[in-house]
Amino acid sequence: MRGIKDKIAVVTGGTRGIGRGIAQRLADEGAKLVIVGTNMETAEKTAREMRLDGADVEAYAADLRNVSEIDALMAHVHDAYGRIDILVNNAGVQIRQWAVDFTEKDYDFLMDLNLKAYYFTACAAAKYMKAQGGGAIVCVSSGNSTCFTSRRSLYNISKAAVNALVGTLAVEWGRFNIRVNAVAPGYVLTDMVKKGIDDGVIDMETNFKVIPIKRMLSTEEIGNGVCFLASEEASGVTGQTLFIDGGWSRCGLPED
Ligand SMILES: NC(=O)c1ccc[n+]([C@@H]2O[C@H](COP(=O)([O-])OP(=O)(O)OC[C@H]3O[C@@H](n4cnc5c(N)ncnc54)[C@H](O)[C@@H]3O)[C@@H](O)[C@H]2O)c1
Repeated sequence: MRGIKDKIAVVTGGTRGIGRGIAQRLADEGAKLVIVGTNMETAEKTAREMRLDGADVEAYAADLRNVSEIDALMAHVHDAYGRIDILVNNAGVQIRQWAVDFTEKDYDFLMDLNLKAYYFTACAAAKYMKAQGGGAIVCVSSGNSTCFTSRRSLYNISKAAVNALVGTLAVEWGRFNIRVNAVAPGYVLTDMVKKGIDDGVIDMETNFKVIPIKRMLSTEEIGNGVCFLASEEASGVTGQTLFIDGGWSRCGLPED
């Protein structure tokens, strides 16, 4: 894909799951990567494995719920590589329970990562992108940003806000040649979804009745969409949310 090779890319939550798939696709296209997770050992393990496949990747640990750690991450990347071309805001959490059972602590825990961190990470990167003449930001939203499944109220709200975030930041930053888009994945079998299945909250056989392609998505399929939006091939695209959900968001009634 044009315009990814040798670009400096930061992928939050790039240490496992969807983030790792995104990081791998960007690495396949020749980007130089910084992958960020909460645990340095896990981040370093993933980076080592990716390097065996030829990726140019640095591991970094931070708790992105703290804005000071976001600023330190971006300053580190800029100091080390001289620029920040691509930011993928991917790190997110899920808590599944009825709306009335959420506590204030749950609210802060989820919103601080799924929304606040996306916002301040985008802003921190945009300062460097503006100074260097441009960049691309891709946020990982969710099918739940429009399909409001029960027992995920905080998550649904945080992801609907991500769609609004990319729209509004795109409007502000188009003048600086910074494009801001999102991908909204359907179900991908990561630790997040495995926990929902193990807890008995997710039943994929039922879900497939409203997912036209009748299967889960792969991390590579999500990475393909992120690569496109980050690349020069999407040079005219900004403020959009691309649903990579096997048609889930288009389905009306359940079908076998
Ligand atoms: N799995 C799905 O089906 C699915 C569907 C739609 C959207 N998503 C979204 O995709 C993204 C990745 O989800 P996943 O399923 O790969 O999850 P995951 O739990 O497998 O991975 C989460 C990643 O986020 C990182 N992380 C967690 N807390 C952090 C913090 N405080 N600071 C920095 N990093 C932190 C973890 O280290 C890990 O790398 C999330 O935003 C999620 O909402 C997932």
